[in-house]
Amino acid sequence: MENKFYITTPLYYVNAAPHIGHSYTNIAADCLARYYRRLLGKENVWFLTGTDEHGQKMQKAAAEAKLSPQEFADKMIVHFMELWRELDISYDDFIRTTEERHRRVVQQALAILNKKGDIYQDKYEGLYCTPCETFWLESQAANGLCPDCGRPVERLKEQAYFFKLSKYQDWLAGFIEGHPLFIQPKARYNEVISFLRLNKLADLCISRPKERLNWGIPIPFAPDHVTYVWFDALLNYISAVGQFDKNDQYTSKWWPASAQLIGKDILRQHAVYWPIMLHALGIEPPKTVFAHGWWLIGSSKMSKSVGNVVSPIDMVRKYGIDVYRYFLLRDVPFGLDGNFSEEAIIRRFNSDLANDLGNLVYRTLTMIEKYFEGKVPGSKFPALPAYRSGRPAGRYVLGSGEKLEAEMKLLNERVSKTIEGLDFSGTLEEIWKIINMANKYVEETKPWNLAKENKTEELGGFICLLADVIRTTAKCISPFMPATADAIQEQIGQDRIKKGKPLFPRIDVN
Ligand code: ME8
Ligand code: MG
Repeated sequence: MENKFYITTPLYYVNAAPHIGHSYTNIAADCLARYYRRLLGKENVWFLTGTDEHGQKMQKAAAEAKLSPQEFADKMIVHFMELWRELDISYDDFIRTTEERHRRVVQQALAILNKKGDIYQDKYEGLYCTPCETFWLESQAANGLCPDCGRPVERLKEQAYFFKLSKYQDWLAGFIEGHPLFIQPKARYNEVISFLRLNKLADLCISRPKERLNWGIPIPFAPDHVTYVWFDALLNYISAVGQFDKNDQYTSKWWPASAQLIGKDILRQHAVYWPIMLHALGIEPPKTVFAHGWWLIGSSKMSKSVGNVVSPIDMVRKYGIDVYRYFLLRDVPFGLDGNFSEEAIIRRFNSDLANDLGNLVYRTLTMIEKYFEGKVPGSKFPALPAYRSGRPAGRYVLGSGEKLEAEMKLLNERVSKTIEGLDFSGTLEEIWKIINMANKYVEETKPWNLAKENKTEELGGFICLLADVIRTTAKCISPFMPATADAIQEQIGQDRIKKGKPLFPRIDVN
């Protein structure tokens, strides 16, 4: 592994307040950033998020709000910043595409590509979907509807500037095949590769005439045009962490990004346009672009423009930050679609958090209180004597305590393997296997009998192992549930416990 980690999220459009889908990507990125900070140290991890503020959709939304686009954006970003604060999102930088540091890099990139001959002028005739900010060919939107979102497209016929995507098609296919981790998960890799095999890439229209859209970054060599919002926005990932120096050489401590998280809705832009833009500029593509699935309501994608959104703030107020974070990362494997419902949150809450984790912590603290006057039994007790005794001589069978201890020692490695592969639900499954084993261990051991028979030493070994399991699992869940992990560490302490209320009191559905 490298000794630095640079992770990004998409820059969200600020035409409406963020919903659960946006919070999902940022929670996943936050979890990964927290994990790597522990591994690499804070100074070697950089987590970028931000907002995408140009384009036709923004201009239209601002006009409807009777504000200038800039005023409208200034007002709307507050919703995003508040949500990230509320969700404990530990980003290092927040970039807005209307910032000067970004505009400068976009204009420089355009100038470089123009000088290189990768940009040319031509007439554009085709269709455009404003909600998606996407160009379509006549053949792709034959019925006048956007093939992605199903809304009407508009016909465009204008002078425009094009970026030569087609020139780089073969390079891209080779690059993707040579770097199997570049596009993840596998299903998305296959999708892009087969798209590249079956289609000839059309060059990308990267300009809009100012007379129709003036809310964008001016194209330095084309005074009557502004930059197409996607060409502008993608460059944020490098404008936020570096710059072109005098020789137009790109230098940055952070680039290439280690992991760029996106939803599968914007795969094409990140897996086709973006690496080609970088390559044409002489810059290395990111190590990984991971496109996760969609949160659905019923069978439709949750989406601001469809209007079926659920407010993350409402969910957090109702269930708590960590419960919400846990649910999103646990309920659906990263990469697949999932159905969002409060019933599903409550189900996860009652089983995984109340019954499993909360119960393990609470019952262990209760036993420490009851049998050891609140002092965590330390190393003076051999860890597992209770499970060695009573075993038939000659036939060595591992007791549940020994199994638990052995599995616990493998947990860190399993957590690393799954989380570094962005398999968040897999990581949580590994952690919960240990939690469940520990609960089973309590039921099998029947500590109340050990207490009755005054087997203090065995009881001490038993509790010592449980305390170890709790500390280990608390450490492992901290990227997912930072406050819960702190609360558990605080309660179990190193020496004396501080038992509080149960962490996750069951939710009564009636
Ligand atoms: O596309 N389920 O911004 P955007 C899961 N500005 N994730 C979802 C989701 C859902 N139902 N809905 C949204 C843009 N997302 C561009 C990006 S990047 C240089 C420019 C998340 O506001 C997911 O990450 O439409 C998706 O890719 C992103 O929000 C789209 O946000
Ligand atoms: Mg969108």
